[in-house]
Amino acid sequence: MLVLGIESSCDETAAAIVRDGRIIESSVIASQIETHKKFGGVVPEIASREHLVKIVPVVEQAFSDAKIPKSAIDGIAVTNGPGLVGSLLVGVSYAKAMAYALKKPLIGVNHIEGHVYSVVFENPPVQYPALALIVSGGHTNVFWIPEPGKYKVVARTRDDAAGEAFDKIAKLLGLGYPGGPVIEKYAREGNPKAVHFAVPRMGDGRPDFSFSGLKTAVSKYVRETGISPAVEGTAPSQEIKDLAASFQDVVVRSLVGTVNSIAETYKPLTLIVAGGVACNQYLRSAATEAASSMHIPVYFPSPNLSTDNAAMIAAAGTAKLIAGERSDLSLNADVSMRLQNIEVEDDILRKTVKYKL
Ligand code: KG4
Ligand code: ZN
Repeated sequence: MLVLGIESSCDETAAAIVRDGRIIESSVIASQIETHKKFGGVVPEIASREHLVKIVPVVEQAFSDAKIPKSAIDGIAVTNGPGLVGSLLVGVSYAKAMAYALKKPLIGVNHIEGHVYSVVFENPPVQYPALALIVSGGHTNVFWIPEPGKYKVVARTRDDAAGEAFDKIAKLLGLGYPGGPVIEKYAREGNPKAVHFAVPRMGDGRPDFSFSGLKTAVSKYVRETGISPAVEGTAPSQEIKDLAASFQDVVVRSLVGTVNSIAETYKPLTLIVAGGVACNQYLRSAATEAASSMHIPVYFPSPNLSTDNAAMIAAAGTAKLIAGERSDLSLNADVSMRLQNIEVEDDILRKTVKYKL
């Protein structure tokens, strides 16, 4: 089964052809990072205009790289939310037109579900129930997945996403954009224990995340200590590297600590960590350690499948098409689309869980 995936929810225009939901025949990603860099973040209006320019060549490239004629595909999967409305609409309109012209089935895919599926290409099959930490520039969630396609949000961020926090702190420290890779780079030369930041806890005891207070804490620290932010093009000071390392450490402690405590209750058989922030090696080693202490495997996508791509959308779409799901030509962009289709109470859910031990 060959499925074309199309992704344009934020600042990457991507198309991929995936065979049987697991084999990448081609994956093309046109990133707009250079365009948005000078603004220090994604400018929605510019993003949608760039998608318009790139969508046709990117899809054509996916077919020519895969050496597959358009008539050979069995379906088209497209991200239809969540994301930036103008960006999403480019992919959705293009996919609908293509599905109509080629008379192929169409399926809308939730971008976050796409990130969950990004682990299928390079890992053994996921064993369910699974727990997935999805950490990107726009989302930070822990999902309970008792079986494929069933999702319950067990933890979410109350404010900024983890990737957004990396981007904001990098800006504050004068390290540039996007923040994640540059913070990770300098954190390697810094001391993660140099500055102690407390893991934010929720007053209501829920296992949710909060990262906006950290930005205030880091900015207060910079003001009070008088350390100077880095100047673009020059190496940052040791204090900045220490601060970057300490910030990365608290974010990872928060993410992995939460996953750990949720896993103790839910007893998953597999841990999935995906999304742009999953490129971070410090997070990967902490999550690997946590999973090994739980005696379960942890699956990550490789870095080029961690950030936004269309192969993950094609994989998620394949599962839906196989399950008989279809979207029609009224498919629309849904900017705040949620990923949760389990409504039962936690305790009921836990009773249905098959424990490993
Ligand atoms: O998944 P993604 O490409 O887009 C969204 O769906 O948001 O994630 C992009 C985010 C950015 O905030 C970026 O700073 C972060 O992922 N990121 C990282 C790293 N590489 C990318 N964060 C921490 N460490 C990294 N190495
Ligand atoms: Zn994403």
